[in-house]
This record gives sequence, structure tokens and C-alpha cells, in this order.
Amino acid sequence: MKKIIRNVAFGLVGLSVSAASVAGPEEDRQAFRKFYENRFPQVQPIGDFQNGVYSILPAAREQWESIEEFPPYELAIEEGEKIFNKTFANGKSLKDCFGEDGAVREQYPHWNKERGMVMTMELAINECLEANGEKPLKYKKGAMAAVSAYMAYNSRGQVINVEIPSDDPRALAAYEDGKEHFYTKRGQLNFACADCHMHTSGMNYRSETVSPAFGHPTNWPVYRAKWQEMGTLHRRFAGCHDNIRANPFKAQGEEYRNLEYFISYMSNGLEFNGPAARK
Ligand code: HEC
Repeated sequence: MKKIIRNVAFGLVGLSVSAASVAGPEEDRQAFRKFYENRFPQVQPIGDFQNGVYSILPAAREQWESIEEFPPYELAIEEGEKIFNKTFANGKSLKDCFGEDGAVREQYPHWNKERGMVMTMELAINECLEANGEKPLKYKKGAMAAVSAYMAYNSRGQVINVEIPSDDPRALAAYEDGKEHFYTKRGQLNFACADCHMHTSGMNYRSETVSPAFGHPTNWPVYRAKWQEMGTLHRRFAGCHDNIRANPFKAQGEEYRNLEYFISYMSNGLEFNGPAARK
């Protein structure tokens, strides 16, 4: 354990710079992007950050590309398609909420003014099911990951374009909450997301190279070899909290939705390319 801490702590010098930022979201976003452009000038074009750690690891990338030729998430897409097209007891289906092919990835996450909260795609899927008298799905894997894989697949190439409407201060507050989460140290190991995914990105944590956070929200859900199955973005958030021995928050609870709002805003301009395969 000591070794891990030493490895990671190595890169923490200079941490205060971005954490102390008082600028608005747009300035934050530009500084965030610039940070990664400067740190990884070899990532060209910049859109390649959508490929997570493989954008910065040429050796691992080849292996990953060969995996993507016979993608392990293919079955999930097929399963998701069936669920998506399945007729509910009331005669409707998910199509009634998300259109013929569910290619709505670019609409999420977004600020819902009426309800004063961040809406995510997974939450919207469950709300659609419940509004039609169907049982909601569990958020981290299984059927939910399958439906979201199908919808993400049909949405490939759409661009992240998260807005923080200026006519509702609660939207900015949700963004600030997500931002604070990203930069706040937690858990017994006392790490912030930013400690690993900004300031030690590209370095090793245990046997894994830590990915840049720029691009984090593009590629979900993911088939992860370690899981041997699909998982959603909030499952991954919870996994990273486990790793630093912090109590994970509830998938699709306010904390993780606000965090998703923040990291998605930071990645505005990148393309959605989910689902994806990861180690
Ligand atoms: C102790 C270091 C550490 C901390 C702290 C940490 N992570 Fe991670 N995270 C990792 C490692 C290692 C991986 C697996 C390799 C990689 O980065 O893709 C990972 C993977 C991820 C991924 C998946 C990337 C992909 O392309 O599949 C996301 C998203 C993520 N982390 C988000 C977060 C968020 C949000 C936080 C804060 C709540 C956080 N992480 C905190 C080390 C960390």
C-alpha cells in the first residue's frame, strides 16, 4: 500500500492551481482542456481524448484496437435493442420516449429547469419505464447498461454540448457542486478525482495507467475485462471511490449526477463514442 501512495503522491505538486479557480464554467472548461493539451501534446487530433487511456498509450492501443474489432459489448447492444423495442403492458415502448432508434445521447446530461435537477440518460430511461407502469432497472449494469449501450451505439458521433443555462442559478450551483466533488480529497487514501485524473494522468496507479479526465464521459457504457461485463459511468465513479476507500455515492443520486454534469461540460466538443471496451 505504501508503494501505491508514494507512486501517486509523486505527481501532486502544483495541485492547487486548477483547484483554486474562481472563474466561470466557460473559463474552467478552456483551462481544463488546455491542461490536457499541454500535458499530452502527442494526442492528435484533440478528439482522440475520447479513447481514454488509449489516447496516451500507443502500445496498449494496438491491443485495444484489435479487441474493438470483435467488440465484447456487441451482445449488450443486441440485448439492449430487444429491451428498447419491447412492448410494455400498456402497448407502448421505450421508443415512445426516445424515438425510433433512441439516438438521443447528445441530449444528456442536461439541466431540467422545471425540476431543478440534472437529468441523465439512465435516469430518463427509468423514468420512462416507470411512467408506463414498468419496473425500473438497476443503474450500474445488466439491462440498464444494455439499453444504454444500444442508445449510445446509435448515437455515435453526436457531440457533447452540455449547457449551463444562465437564467437558473441552480444549474450553476449543480455544476459547482460537481466541480467541487472532482477537486475534493476523500476516503482513507485522501485522493481527489483530480489528483489521479489530472495531476497524475499518464502515470501508473497499481498496474494501470491513469487516464485523462478530459474525455471521461464520452464512451459509456463500457465492457470492462475486469468486470467481465458491462458497466455504466456511475458504476465506474463508485469503483474509483472504492479504490481510495471512500464510501461510494448512490448511482444516479444527486452527487454523481452533478459530477457527470461537470465532467461532461468539461468535455464539451468531444464526440460520444460509446459503448467501448476497457481493461
Ligand atoms: C487513486 C487514483 C484514482 C482516483 C482518486 C480516481 N480514479 Fe478514476 N481511475 C483510476 C484508474 C487507475 C482507472 C483505470 C484506468 C483509466 O484511467 O482508465 C480509473 C478509471 C476511471 C474512469 C474510466 C475511464 C475510461 O476511459 O474507461 C473514469 C470515468 C474515472 N476513473 C473517473 C473518476 C472520478 C470521477 C473520480 C473521482 C470521484 C476518480 N476517477 C478517482 C484511478 C483513480
